[in-house]
Amino acid sequence: MAEIAPSILAANLTSLAEEVRSVERGGASLIHVDVMDGHFVPNLTVGVPVVASLRRATTLPLDVHLMIERPERYIEAFAEAGADWISVHQEATPHLHRALGMIRERGLRAGAVLNPATPVDTLLEVLDGVDFILVMSVNPGFGGQKFLPGALEKIRQLGELRARYTHSYRIEVDGGVGPENVAELVRAGADILVAGTAIFHAPDPAEAVLRMRQLASEARAQRV
Ligand code: DX5
Ligand code: ZN
Repeated sequence: MAEIAPSILAANLTSLAEEVRSVERGGASLIHVDVMDGHFVPNLTVGVPVVASLRRATTLPLDVHLMIERPERYIEAFAEAGADWISVHQEATPHLHRALGMIRERGLRAGAVLNPATPVDTLLEVLDGVDFILVMSVNPGFGGQKFLPGALEKIRQLGELRARYTHSYRIEVDGGVGPENVAELVRAGADILVAGTAIFHAPDPAEAVLRMRQLASEARAQRV
């Protein structure tokens, strides 16, 4: 079953608890939180206090996507704030293995993220130490960008590697995802779909999540 992870980057942050409740009603599986530092990516967003507030507003797992340089410096703080899943970019630290280990040591799910220009094989040495891999289908930094189709091939490659080496990581995709590409992403092998604009800018976010879940499950049924 492919799952939907709404990204609160596109939500109305003055009524975040209500926004989260609406996607819960639609059957969201995770709440995706985009943390940006103005260095690794050319934008600033939210940080530890917002994760702590979200923790009190929902029982859904919080999927914290760290778009920050040297993310290992902040893993402890996000874990304390209530993150359940934490992902770090391959490109953001020379100590990816250590950063993933720090996340797992705290009993959280650890994810490695690939920018569009970063090949899958840069993760070969950490594949047995990740719970999920996040494939960026836009250049990180902003919501509302156009989906880059190169992500589809990476998702396929990750699925093949998982089968060949009997790994168990899940494959997540983020950026420009919406009802129009859910089916091809799920057929390529995506397990978790992150979407901001397609959900929170829709007239009814609960309905948007529901629709994407339905499209994903139909496509899943066609997957062998
Ligand atoms: C981009 C973020 C995404 C973003 C996706 O850097 O990682 O999670 O919120 O937004 P949409 O779905 O609008 O492309
Ligand atoms: Zn994200």
